[in-house]
Amino acid sequence: MRKVLLLLMVFTLFMACRYDVLEQPEETIMDDFSATTAYPLSIPPFFPPMDIPADNPLTNESVLLGRYLFWEKKLSINQTQSCGSCHLPQHGFSDSAVFSVGAEGQIGERQSMALINLGWARYFFWDGRTATLEDQVVQPVENPIEMHEEWSQVVEKLQNDTLYPPLFKAAFGSPKVTKKRAAKALSSFLRTMISAGSKFDQQRIGLYQFTDSEYRGFVLFQTEGGSPDQVPGGSFGADCFHCHGFGDMQFTNGLFHNNGLDAHFSKDPGRALVTFNPLDSGKFKVPTLRNIALTAPYMHDGRFQTLSDVIEHYNSGGHPSTTIDSFMKFTSGGLQLSETSKSDLIAFLHCLTDTAFIHNESFSDPHE
Ligand code: HEC
Ligand code: HEC
Repeated sequence: MRKVLLLLMVFTLFMACRYDVLEQPEETIMDDFSATTAYPLSIPPFFPPMDIPADNPLTNESVLLGRYLFWEKKLSINQTQSCGSCHLPQHGFSDSAVFSVGAEGQIGERQSMALINLGWARYFFWDGRTATLEDQVVQPVENPIEMHEEWSQVVEKLQNDTLYPPLFKAAFGSPKVTKKRAAKALSSFLRTMISAGSKFDQQRIGLYQFTDSEYRGFVLFQTEGGSPDQVPGGSFGADCFHCHGFGDMQFTNGLFHNNGLDAHFSKDPGRALVTFNPLDSGKFKVPTLRNIALTAPYMHDGRFQTLSDVIEHYNSGGHPSTTIDSFMKFTSGGLQLSETSKSDLIAFLHCLTDTAFIHNESFSDPHE
């Protein structure tokens, strides 16, 4: 009898604990990182420090959980799509489709973006509608043209999966699955996706010497465009550095510009969708050019198939409009680059490819 009573007590206690852990309202759940190990983050040469939110320390456990979640098809409504379905390693973690296809075959309206060095980014999405990774990574799940699933459903699916409760416990101190914890883990994983092994990076630290053509392209990239007769300071360069600068090694100034793709913006006004400021119409986030040879098609709507098409666009000066950037040379007939200069520029852009990054085992699908 005593034994039965004891068993009953233990069982009640167990159920109470279970209730505690699983039914607790999300806001009251505290993360406990005391049993975690710090991720050995190494900041590549010449990169600035990475800002990591105090309430989401970068740990081996959260990075591992994030990797599982990134490749988890249960995040989509019909278990067909993971983040990795539209962010493929071989395409620099972007998509070769002009518009990514959603879990139910829905066609998106923008080209997928490369996931590279996002630990240093200040805005996310082509229109910059989120300012932290933690806010960004929860969006694709509920987006009707992407994974189209309710977070409450995802939480339930993961909680009932044998794989996830232990991974959440290791990362956050309890097996409770929450949207917030999933967001933290996904963000941690994305912060570790660092590309710094390109020829350009190696050249910076003296381990690679540019070929003559690559070097000429490198110089063109950072030289003012246009003829000095028409453009103050013009030096017949390609003028890419104003927006795709590499002072912080990222090949983007992290801001929003109109690079002259269209004369009208009714189809996709870009940044203005977020700020409601007409002066932001036609402006989009300046994307990194790292791994650019792998991430075709190009621009927010995937309109250009090749780097050559992109260079022709800049060479033409673009389409004048009310918000076109003053660095675009539309008033003076474009950059007027010679055929050799164009191919030199492309040779330099190929120096931004980092094959070690796309083949890095720690970013691959752990479910396979
Ligand atoms: C159906 C295809 C699709 C799926 C699935 C998808 N994405 Fe994306 N992703 C996109 C597209 C398209 C964009 C650009 C959308 C925009 O600007 O409105 C994008 C943008 C992003 C960005 C912004 C990058 C930057 O430089 O600003 C991040 C980060 C990102 N996705 C992460 C994820 C994560 C994490 C998941 C899984 C939870 C995911 N994506 C699932 C297609 C997809
Ligand atoms: C005025 C700022 C500006 C200048 C100057 C500029 N870019 Fe861009 N670049 C952008 C913006 C903004 C985008 C994204 C535009 C969009 O998709 O609507 C972009 C997109 C690109 C893309 C496509 C990236 C992708 O992931 O789809 C490439 C490639 C590119 N630029 C290369 C260059 C090169 C090469 C030069 C110099 C010849 C250059 N850019 C000059 C602002 C600029």
